[in-house]
Amino acid sequence: MCGTDEAIFALILFSFRVFSVFRGQISFMQIPYLIEIIYLVASVLFIYGLKAMSHPTTARRGMNAAAVGMLMAIAGTLFHREIVSYEWIIVGLVIGSLIGAAMSIWMPMTAMPQRTALSHAFGALAATIVGIAEFYRYSGELGSFKMTAIGFEVLFGGITVTGSLIAFAKLQGLVRGTPVTYKGQNIVNISLFVAAVGIFVYLIFFPVGILFYVMVGMAFLFGVLLVLPIGAADMPVVMSLMNSYAGLASAATGFALNNKVLIIAGTLDGFSGLILSILMCRAMNRSITNVLFGAFGSAGTEATQIEGTMRETSVDDVAVQLAYARQVVFVPGYGMATAQAQHALRELADTLEKRGVSVKYAIHPVAGRMPGHMNVLLAEANVPYSLLYELEQVNPEMPTTDVAVVVGANDTVNPDARDNPKSAIAGMPIIEVDRATQVIVLKRGQGKGFSGIENPLFFKPNTAMLYGDAKDSLSKLAQAVQQA
Ligand code: TAP
Repeated sequence: MCGTDEAIFALILFSFRVFSVFRGQISFMQIPYLIEIIYLVASVLFIYGLKAMSHPTTARRGMNAAAVGMLMAIAGTLFHREIVSYEWIIVGLVIGSLIGAAMSIWMPMTAMPQRTALSHAFGALAATIVGIAEFYRYSGELGSFKMTAIGFEVLFGGITVTGSLIAFAKLQGLVRGTPVTYKGQNIVNISLFVAAVGIFVYLIFFPVGILFYVMVGMAFLFGVLLVLPIGAADMPVVMSLMNSYAGLASAATGFALNNKVLIIAGTLDGFSGLILSILMCRAMNRSITNVLFGAFGSAGTEATQIEGTMRETSVDDVAVQLAYARQVVFVPGYGMATAQAQHALRELADTLEKRGVSVKYAIHPVAGRMPGHMNVLLAEANVPYSLLYELEQVNPEMPTTDVAVVVGANDTVNPDARDNPKSAIAGMPIIEVDRATQVIVLKRGQGKGFSGIENPLFFKPNTAMLYGDAKDSLSKLAQAVQQA
C-alpha cells in the first residue's frame, strides 16, 4: 500500500473513532429521535433531488441534494445501537468506495448503461443478501408481515441481480444482443414465475424450510430467462424496469428491517423507475408487455427493399449549404457520444449563428445509449437549453428546414420505423429528417445502428453522406464555414 492509501485508511479509522466517541456522548433515549430526524431530512432531500432532476437547469443541484441525502442516511444508520463494532462496516465501505471510484474513473461515458446495470445488480444483491440473512436469523418465528416483506425483497432482488447482469452482458457484447428465443418460452417463464409466487404465498403461512431457498433460486433463474429474449435495443426499458425492481426490493428491505428511510427511498426509486419505463415505451410507441415478451428484432420482421444509391459529399460542399441556409437542425445520436463531438458541434453551431443561420438541436428520447444521453453531452458543451427541441416540437418544422445534419444518429432517424409496419423498429417515433430539403449524414462508414437494420434514409435523393469521425468532420466544417 502506498503512503497516500495508508493516510486515507488512517483518516477513515480516525473518523469512525471520533464518530464512536460522539455516539457515546448521546444518551440512549435521544438516539432514536436523532436517527428519525436525520432520516426525515434525508427523505426530504431525496424528494427534492428527484424533483430538481426533472429539469436540465436544476438537475445538477438535484444530484447534489440527493447525494447529501444519501450521506445523511448512511450517517444516521451508523448511530443505530444495534451496531456493536465498525470493523466490517469499514471493510465494506473501503471495498465499495474502491469499486465505485474505479468505475467512475475508468468506465467511459459511452459505457454508462452497462455501469448502471452493474450498479442495479450490486444494489439488488445487497437487498437479497439482507433478506436471506433475516430469514436465516428468524426462520420459524417470522410473522406473516415480516415474511411478506422478506419474500418481496428476495423475489424482486433475485430477479434484478441476474436480470441486470444479463443486461450488462448484452450491452457489453459478452452475450449476443439479439433476442434469445425458443418455442414455448413465454409459457416456461410464466410457469416459473407462478411457481415462485406460489411458494411465496405458502411461506407466508409456513415460513420454514428449504422452500425459501428454492424460491430465491427461482428468482435468480427468472431474472436470466426474463432478459435473455429481449433484444439489446430494448435494454434501456429493461434497465429502468430493473431499477424499479431494485427500488421495490429496497422498500421491502425497509419493511423487513423497520427502516423508514429505506422504505421511502426504495419506493421513490421503484416508482420513478416504473414511470421512466412507461415513458420510454411511449417514446417507442410500444407497450411494456410487447417489450418484455415481444422479442423485438426477432423473426417476423422484414426490412424494406432499398432503392437508390448512397451519395457521398465533401466538407466544402456541406459548408456552403450550411453557410447559406436559413434554418439548420442538428440531430445528434450515439456516434456523437462515441466521437465526443459535442464541443465541435457547438462550435459549428456558434459559427452558423454568427452568420445569421437559425440553429436547432433535435433530441430523440432514446438517442444514444441512456435516457438523457444527448442532453447531458450538449449541456457539458454549454449548448443553451432553449435550443434543444423534442421530437414532437421539431418534426413539424422539418419541411421548412433547409439542412438537417445527422451527427452519428441512425435508428432514431430511420424512416422505416414510420413507413414499414414489418420493420424491427416499426412504430418507434423518429425525427423526420427525410422531410427536410437537404439531409447531411455524418458517420464513419456503412455501420448499422443499434437495431442492426439498414436505413433507407441514406439512399434517398435528398441525402448526402459525409464520411469520417463526427468530431473531425464537425471541426473541418466549422473552419470551412468561416471561409465560405
Ligand atoms: P445508433 O442507431 O446506435 O447509430 C449510431 C451511428 O453512429 C452508427 O450508425 C455509426 O455508424 C455512427 N457512429 C459511431 N461512431 C461514430 C463516430 N465516431 N463518428 C461518426 N459516426 C459514428 O444511434 P441512435 O440514432 O442514437 O439510436 C440509438 C439506438 O440505441 C436506438 O436503437 C435505441 O433504442 C438504442 N438504445 C437507446 C438507449 C437510450 S435510453 N438512449 C439505450 C440503449 C440502446 P458508423 O459505424 O458507420 O460510423
